[in-house]
Amino acid sequence: MKISFLNQSFKDYIDKYRKIISQFSLSDYPFLRTLKDEQFIREIYLKVLKTATELANCTDALVIVGIGGSILLSRGILQGQNCNNVYFLGQGLDFDAFDKTLKMLKGKKLSLAFISKSGTTIECKLMFEYLKNFVEKENIVVISSKNSQIYKDADKDDISCFEIPESVGGRFSFFTPVGMFPLAYAKLDFLKFYNGFLQEIKSFENDIFNSNEFSYACARKELSNNFQVESVISFDYKIQSLLPCICQLLAESLGKENKGIYPSPCYFSEDLHSIGQFMQEGKKCFFETFITCAKDEKNNSKNFNFNDEINNIKSIYKKYNSIACNSSIKAHADGGNKIINIELDSLSEEECGRLIAFFILSVLLYAKLDGVNPLNQGGVENYKSNMKKFLNE
Ligand code: PA5
Repeated sequence: MKISFLNQSFKDYIDKYRKIISQFSLSDYPFLRTLKDEQFIREIYLKVLKTATELANCTDALVIVGIGGSILLSRGILQGQNCNNVYFLGQGLDFDAFDKTLKMLKGKKLSLAFISKSGTTIECKLMFEYLKNFVEKENIVVISSKNSQIYKDADKDDISCFEIPESVGGRFSFFTPVGMFPLAYAKLDFLKFYNGFLQEIKSFENDIFNSNEFSYACARKELSNNFQVESVISFDYKIQSLLPCICQLLAESLGKENKGIYPSPCYFSEDLHSIGQFMQEGKKCFFETFITCAKDEKNNSKNFNFNDEINNIKSIYKKYNSIACNSSIKAHADGGNKIINIELDSLSEEECGRLIAFFILSVLLYAKLDGVNPLNQGGVENYKSNMKKFLNE
């Protein structure tokens, strides 16, 4: 992974931020201590893998009920891998949104996973209570804080339970049963993502001031003086699927105390035919962060065969996509837009794990620069408690 800048010089302001970051230490974040404990995470994973594999072998599909940080990353990864036996329900309160999925699930033998740190989030509780009626008890899994009522009740009722460690909040919880279970059911290799995550943290710790995270956090901080919006852009489906999660991480961790930058996901090339117009000629209220990929994880040309239509069309698409990416970066840069380019080495699971660590660490650095607490979400909690209050009235 490497980071570069167009129309701005990162070196101009770096010294300004060194002083603040010299007081930064990862040991101030207990959730990272938990996630970095490789033995602990691997032990939990083995247990989760066993349950998920048993359920995958005896059911047709898994329904995951959860919202926000508790599901966004696993949903993005599964979507990016075109996984077709895991469904997500309960991400809102308009039942119409679930109708299509519920109809598709009719007649299937289901596993059901409830994923909520608090265990009290209304959107999820409502859907879970409804779906429980159609799923055999032994095919239900509850993933929550050990202190939540739903965990205690499920445990008493002999339902399989996995704990979300107390120190780990929703949007930071992918490397716990929160991400392990969905990936394991879908037969994706969670440990490859985890290895990439650990590698990135190690290289960051070795040299914070020369890290990509430091460059990105400082550039964002400097750009926040003139811009309110960060367009987070990708041309690659696997990365596009992660944009909701990346934007959530940036927004929910850093949008507080009247500070922060509003992150807006952009799906190119489709959006180039709509909001792309604004981005080139509209009001300059934003800067752009591209997440691009240097090369694909598989070199299709090795197996290239003119008779193989799929390989042929795939390589044509790949070429066009890469030309579209370079063309739009050039056009936007020529128009004077400020651009950050985060270039991945590949779209492999390990590199994806690195990208997750990159954004988490950048968020922590930026929070330090902006003087906010990245781990809370007061606004979200206000909504949740109002909702409960009004429901009880
Ligand atoms: O990142 C966060 O903390 C939030 O997005 C939560 O994950 C979200 O509000 C859901 O909360 P819970 O996991 O308690 O249901």
